[in-house]
Amino acid sequence: MPPSDQPPSPTLPRARERAQTLGPDRPIGVFDSGIGGLTVVRALMERLPYENIVYFGDTARVPYGVKSVETIAHYTTQIAQFLLEKDVKLLVIACNTMAAVAAQVVKDLSPVPVLDVIDAGAVSARGGKRIGVIGTPTTINSNAYARAIHEYAPDSRIHSQACALFVPLVEEGWLDHEVTRLTAQEYLKPLLAEHIDTLVLGCTHYPLLKPLLREVAGRDVALVDSAEAMAEQVARLLAEKGLANTGPAQPRYDFYVTDVPLRFQTIGERFLGRTLSNVHVVKW
Ligand code: DGL
Repeated sequence: MPPSDQPPSPTLPRARERAQTLGPDRPIGVFDSGIGGLTVVRALMERLPYENIVYFGDTARVPYGVKSVETIAHYTTQIAQFLLEKDVKLLVIACNTMAAVAAQVVKDLSPVPVLDVIDAGAVSARGGKRIGVIGTPTTINSNAYARAIHEYAPDSRIHSQACALFVPLVEEGWLDHEVTRLTAQEYLKPLLAEHIDTLVLGCTHYPLLKPLLREVAGRDVALVDSAEAMAEQVARLLAEKGLANTGPAQPRYDFYVTDVPLRFQTIGERFLGRTLSNVHVVKW
């Protein structure tokens, strides 16, 4: 059922009321289809070390990158409502696939500001003239990056490439592996043939492939890491709205997931770059 046909959630008016009294110590809500969005959390922790963060990863239903727009919009609505109930002061769509096809759905229902990785990546790529974008098949088919980049850089030429194999390769931990290198050479070939000057890493998993992609793309191609770009946007928005948390020194991080699959801890810690604790399982 498309999200517009759904009855409004009874929890949302309460979230709307509470949003009137936004406090800087309220957490930032970050969400993704799985644990890949922890690359965004990691960038946020580094850029904004005092912020409390609540993360939601839909580990039971990942991957989203090959699902239909209707299904993704439906799941995205559920997750955004869950986080609004946690009294977040800001929603961050860390998943490129959700941002590509369901960002507007979240903006329409949220009483708090919403930022998404595609917009953040597009802002960072605006200096490019020939811009390559890589992402999941759903992200690339949506054309969302090309639209967003053209808003900031109308004269740029965009060349897109779906890279379906990168997500499983990263989850396998093959970050510096011959199979991944050959796969990257194959995927980047058409983009490099267009002499791109910028490459947007349009998926939560790709920041982990940065060293390998830099090697394959060459030093002259600027890599845009949408996780870092997002952390910058969040910092700017919080400062503008007077919502930045200046304490406590020890922030709280909570991680909600819909399943704890095999190797969850290992893979999660690879994305986060530190120990993953305070993990709560939500049964949907
Ligand atoms: N989080 C997704 C993205 O950034 C990748 C994993 C998936 O396909 O769900 O596009």
